[in-house]
Amino acid sequence: MGAPVVPAIALTLLAALAGALALAGQASLAAGAAFAAALGLLAALGVRMRRAAGAERESRAFAQAMERAADGDFSLRPGPASAPPLTALEGPFNTMADALASLIGELSEERAQLSSALDGMADGVLLVDRDYRVTLFNRAAGDLLAFDGSGAQALRDYELRELAARCRTSGEAERTELSLGAPRRTVSAAATPIGGASDGSALLTLRDLTAQRRLETTRREFVANVSHELRSPLASVKAMVETLEGGAAGDPAAAADFLARVNREVDRMTALVNDLLELSRIESGQAAPKREPVDAAGVAASVQADLERRIAEAGVSVAVERAGDTTVLGDAGQLHQVLLNLLDNALRFTPRGGEIAADVDGASRADAVTVRVRDDGPGVAAEHLPHLFERFYKADRSRRDQGTGLGLAIAKRAVEAHGGEIGVESAEGAGATFWFTIPR
Ligand SMILES: Nc1ncnc2c1ncn2[C@@H]1O[C@H](COP(=O)(O)OP(=O)(O)OP(=O)(O)O)[C@@H](O)[C@H]1O
Ligand SMILES: [Mg+2]
Repeated sequence: MGAPVVPAIALTLLAALAGALALAGQASLAAGAAFAAALGLLAALGVRMRRAAGAERESRAFAQAMERAADGDFSLRPGPASAPPLTALEGPFNTMADALASLIGELSEERAQLSSALDGMADGVLLVDRDYRVTLFNRAAGDLLAFDGSGAQALRDYELRELAARCRTSGEAERTELSLGAPRRTVSAAATPIGGASDGSALLTLRDLTAQRRLETTRREFVANVSHELRSPLASVKAMVETLEGGAAGDPAAAADFLARVNREVDRMTALVNDLLELSRIESGQAAPKREPVDAAGVAASVQADLERRIAEAGVSVAVERAGDTTVLGDAGQLHQVLLNLLDNALRFTPRGGEIAADVDGASRADAVTVRVRDDGPGVAAEHLPHLFERFYKADRSRRDQGTGLGLAIAKRAVEAHGGEIGVESAEGAGATFWFTIPR
């Protein structure tokens, strides 16, 4: 800024000097020479001033390009410089700008790849600093910790803060298992110190074990249930065989009675094993249902016919009613099984003289046929309703010899394999209506 001021003062001084010489009336040669010299100097100074103004403009353009580069924009170039030292700087500046632009492009691409890889991970990953501020987190971690996506987050969970602090103190990776969020999720968490003791940051990884734990529990319960269901018939078979061995075989009447009871227990065990096989076949998807036109009302009538003897023995009435077109797309064998399980339950729970109705309704919905099996038995208490379709669930545990609690689980799997729904409506003491839908 100060440079143009000096030539301006010098110019004014020279002009004043030349004018003074002329006015003093001294030798005109000397005055003319001095005046010419002053004019020559003036012209030279004018050129230098223009140059200086140009150089200033170019320096400003350079400064602006550098400021923009500092902000990450490398597109602005200062333009051709007319004089040193800018001429010497122009080439290196452009080369540097090109190199930085491509380096930053590569870095942002890598960063984008890294962040999409992190977001694609099933495990939660997050970075916390010494003050438990979360400086980076992926989607899974955000979901597990219920971050609201409003930018700055703090690690609030006490156990996770403890874990981060522990790994900072020990300088080593630390692990723990904890519960997070609502609904509660079982999470295995690991913390690794990052950036040395002075930094105090920690990398946390969170693995959601809820589904795995649930599966383990289900498996354990399943084995326990199967063993339990098999133990009692096996124990009674053993006891009866021992009685027979102990002499009862010699008494034809007692022997016949014991053998008939052994036979019944063996039938129960066979039914249980068959149910288990059926269930595992449906669950493993091996028994993907056929999709062929089946008349659901026809299936209901054939189940009724199969149960004729039991219906007569139970002293109840069973009515199959139909409305509209009751044809569905499905697997006749599996639909038979579903209706058999529902009617079998209704028969088991309906007192002598009671009524059971199977409505096959093809009129209410265009896309599916609804089947309802209604009985006027004892019904189901509200607390049991949500569990009836679970494997081995029996509302009344005392009815040990009345089934294994697999019938409704099998029905549910089969209906769902058809893309339908199954449910129950009941109030204690007021009968039960089990219903299911099968798409057409
Ligand atoms: N119609 C019904 N009325 C009242 N309770 C019922 C009825 N149907 C089922 N339940 C209840 O639901 C439970 C589960 O039924 P599910 O058919 O799955 O098993 P189960 O009949 O006990 O045995 P399985 O069908 O394996 O021989 C029954 O034990 C019973 O407590
Ligand atoms: Mg049953």
